[in-house]
Amino acid sequence: MAQAVTSHRGPVTGTAARARRRRPFLVDLYSTAVGKKYVMGATGIGLMGFVLFHMIGNLKMYAGAADLDHYAHFLQTLLYPLAPKGWVLWILRGGLITMLFLHLHAAWSLTVLNRKARPVKYQSSRDYQIANFASRTMRYSGIVILAFVVWHLLDLTFGVVNPEVGKMITHAGDDEAVKSVYASVVYSFQRTPVALFYVVANILLGIHLFHGAWSIFQSFGWNNPRFNKWRRSFATGFAALVVVGNVSFPVAVMAGIVG
Ligand code: HEM
Repeated sequence: MAQAVTSHRGPVTGTAARARRRRPFLVDLYSTAVGKKYVMGATGIGLMGFVLFHMIGNLKMYAGAADLDHYAHFLQTLLYPLAPKGWVLWILRGGLITMLFLHLHAAWSLTVLNRKARPVKYQSSRDYQIANFASRTMRYSGIVILAFVVWHLLDLTFGVVNPEVGKMITHAGDDEAVKSVYASVVYSFQRTPVALFYVVANILLGIHLFHGAWSIFQSFGWNNPRFNKWRRSFATGFAALVVVGNVSFPVAVMAGIVG
């Protein structure tokens, strides 16, 4: 049965139209559902790049303490002496925080828009073609990943829950002492509940990435039956690569392969 549609808009008069201030194009675009999807997609690509490179960087753990610590030191001293130590890393962190904020804001405001557009649930069963479970749990997997990132920073960056973070070492050719990333990672994963939390959070990250990597094409309108099979393989391959790499670290420490 058709439902009555009530509009909360006032009458559009010539005076009202003239009085309306023009907003910058990007702000105007972001106020639409399509604009928010573009932002989700673009920031999603950036965050996917981060998790992929973060995982690849952490593979240094298998080469030993010196290699991982050297890599962390390399990140700290990017472009040094052209730029003071840590500056480039802070610029990259700024980009990461901005992308994360926009990703969360777009997700939240799309949810609000969806609820406003459809206050009544679908009555018939939906014909979901792909990623049924992953697509419908994006909000929940996203919330757990966010909680994981907060824990992860308290654990390995700020050392609030990890006494090894204070352990200092020096690198050849640089007198300044820096913290040993390797020691703090190994200490972290030697605590079984923490290691298991990393495993569970990274499996959820994989589910989130699978649907995210698939949806990017939809958000940008690159949706064509000719390459839908390719999209699925890309989403599966990308998510699997990140999950297998990330889950391997706590498992390797628990198994005594790294220590
Ligand atoms: C088992 C997998 C992982 C390991 C072993 C790992 C390890 C590390 C290490 C050693 C650091 C550097 C700490 C420091 O020196 O300050 C770090 C930072 C960080 N990690 Fe992870 N990480 C893992 C998974 C993840 C995942 C899945 C995410 C995101 C979803 C993530 C997000 C971050 C962020 C945002 C930082 C801070 C970067 C910075 O401040 O420079 N990590 N991680």
